[in-house]
Amino acid sequence: MPPQLGDVIVHAHHLLAEVLQAGDLAVDLTAGRGRDTLFLARQVNTSAAGTVVAIDIQRQAISASDQLLRQHGITLCSNGDDNGVWLCCANHAASGQLLQPLCRRPRAVIANFGYLPGGDHNLTTTAADSVTAVAAASELLLPGGRIALVLYTGHVGAAEECHAIEELCATLAPQRWNRVRLQPLGRNNAPYLLALEKR
Ligand SMILES: C[S@@+](CC[C@H](N)C(=O)[O-])C[C@H]1O[C@@H](n2cnc3c(N)ncnc32)[C@H](O)[C@@H]1O
Repeated sequence: MPPQLGDVIVHAHHLLAEVLQAGDLAVDLTAGRGRDTLFLARQVNTSAAGTVVAIDIQRQAISASDQLLRQHGITLCSNGDDNGVWLCCANHAASGQLLQPLCRRPRAVIANFGYLPGGDHNLTTTAADSVTAVAAASELLLPGGRIALVLYTGHVGAAEECHAIEELCATLAPQRWNRVRLQPLGRNNAPYLLALEKR
């Protein structure tokens, strides 16, 4: 199926692909079923020098991501300084502690919030943890790097999370950050994209 204009994940990938280079470090704050991680792995060329740190709080998501990445022949690793994808079963609120000791800074970060598709819909990202994770990522991001935040509006707690993330984005100084919102029109509860670029 050709890409659809209203699919904000396609736009998120385009925006990150524009800045990512082979050998970069990229971060997926919500690995889920591994589709965004797979995209990042291809962009940074994890079989050469690139690294993706992919975090998810659910063991089920880490297993699903592991399976998808292996199916596509992606190199896995157990250290954010090696080349490959490092799958971390952790709360992304701890992403600052995970990323701070690494030799490189990320050039791209993605967070696709909400619940695991095909999983427990009650286990969702939360406003407090999401804000902590995005704040840490924004500190560590390289100049010229980008963050793509895909936000959902339909589930319990979603409105609070969207509000908290939007408030955080509003605090980022326009002198240091370009900030963009992309939202499908005329579709209630459709996910939307906030994209951030560090100047
Ligand atoms: C919409 S899914 C992500 C989709 C994924 N990026 C993909 O390409 O398949 C959201 C994920 O966030 C995870 N999650 C929820 N709370 C989290 C937290 N505090 N830290 C890390 N991951 C979390 C869920 O387990 C779920 O897998």
